[in-house]
Amino acid sequence: MARFYITTPIYYANDAPHVGTAYTTVNADALARWHRLIGDETKFLTGTDEHGQKVADAAAKNDQSPQEWTDLKSQQFRQAWEALDISYDDFIRTTEPRHHRAVQHFLQKIHDNGYTELGVYQGLYCVSCEDYKKESDLVDGLCAIHLRPVELLEEENYFFKLSAFGDRLLQWYEDHPDAIVPATKRNEALGIIKAGLDDISITRTSTKWGVEVPWDPAHVFYVWYDALINYLTAIGYGEDSERFEYWWPAVHHLLGKDIIRFHCVWWPAMCMAAGIEPPAHFFVSGWLLVSGEKMAKSGGNQVTPAAMVAEYGVDAFRYHLLRDTPLGADGDFSFEGVTARYNADLANNLGNLVARVSTVVGSKCGGIGPAPDPSSRLSAVAAEVVADTSAAWEAGQPHLALEATWRLIRETNAELETSEPWKSEPGPAVDAVLGSALEALRIVALLASPAMPATSAEIWRRLGLTGDPAQCRVPDDAAWGGYAGGLTVERGSPLFPRRKE
Ligand code: MSP
Repeated sequence: MARFYITTPIYYANDAPHVGTAYTTVNADALARWHRLIGDETKFLTGTDEHGQKVADAAAKNDQSPQEWTDLKSQQFRQAWEALDISYDDFIRTTEPRHHRAVQHFLQKIHDNGYTELGVYQGLYCVSCEDYKKESDLVDGLCAIHLRPVELLEEENYFFKLSAFGDRLLQWYEDHPDAIVPATKRNEALGIIKAGLDDISITRTSTKWGVEVPWDPAHVFYVWYDALINYLTAIGYGEDSERFEYWWPAVHHLLGKDIIRFHCVWWPAMCMAAGIEPPAHFFVSGWLLVSGEKMAKSGGNQVTPAAMVAEYGVDAFRYHLLRDTPLGADGDFSFEGVTARYNADLANNLGNLVARVSTVVGSKCGGIGPAPDPSSRLSAVAAEVVADTSAAWEAGQPHLALEATWRLIRETNAELETSEPWKSEPGPAVDAVLGSALEALRIVALLASPAMPATSAEIWRRLGLTGDPAQCRVPDDAAWGGYAGGLTVERGSPLFPRRKE
């Protein structure tokens, strides 16, 4: 059995989740669900990033202690993910003792290996990015990402000797050419490394809100320096070497393009410095933009996942996130776009097919689903769709996977329109057409289950099948002929009522 360990970035606990953070999380969830469906032993990790100045400032502004504030915020993230049917196996909070222990263990290793040194840092800092800026990074004196003023910081800090890792990183990426997907983002990471790496300040004395530096307790670690280590904490780093080695380094990190430098440059170097293998895979996603700007907690243009679920339903929202913005590209978020996709793919295609088939099975077969025709044209289409859908999920391309799955829906609708079983007398010919349509729907429910778990389970139930599509295995259970026939097919209310555009 193969293993699949997938992670999202851990989200800053400074504010509530929004559609942008939901985008990353839903993509990770769908990939995790796909891998469970093909029988991989899967571990899906998400969580909240709770240290750092940004979080401490947000707590102070709300008259709470950082701990009270992060308790509340991490709970909001959990609730948002629950409403989106996110099937994480572990939710990590960086304030947890297990994380503090792992961070101290990891960084003590880096220190013992001679890759830290004490120095004075003076530089510009963007609290929203939790990152240092060069003058050349600024636009009109403001952070180019957040369009906010930066602060001048001067502190005695420990530095990580990142500059020692340039050649090793380049060599590692040469040996692992597919580590970063898509290739444009790989080039971006290589560009950063080739431009030359400065040592980075990794501790703070100005705040106590962080993980204490084990060899100098006057310092706490800089938030990014503790955050990245969460990926190790969750698999027992420093405490359970068997578990750790079972999952590491074959991890798949999903991350947004704004945090390439931290994940694809710092993080592998940190791993090398601590004496472990760098993470094997990075999927870099783009941003959801609203009128050309990144949807962001600090930007005021955020839409909450709860509002989207209330408006469209959880699976329609998930489908939109997965279908409309290819992983790696930027996407435009608009209510018009979501509605158009909903009507085209969900109301007209999928919803219509389910309604049609169940209605005609009701009128022509007394509501009992017939068995599929082994020689139906749809059987070849289904085999091709299963192969294409699988290849696209495997490549981390949910939008292509769904496009492939929807081909089977369209072809089945077309088949019904050609044969018009509703106009024929009941009999073997009608049974063959309807049985095949039911079988196609069963396969669609299976293939779409990583994207739309609740809808797939509902289609499954309406077809008279027992259990849950998520308990099946692809490709075996997606082979033509799995629908036995003789089951009671339910005519339910429309799955996706058409919406006004
Ligand atoms: N806390 C750090 C990550 C530490 S991981 C060790 C962080 N948090 S964040 O909450 O600001 O962002 C987390 C992720 O959400 C990033 O990958 C970011 O790209 C993604 N997104 C934030 N806004 C987004 C959009 N508008 N669109 C798509 N992804 C978005 O960075």
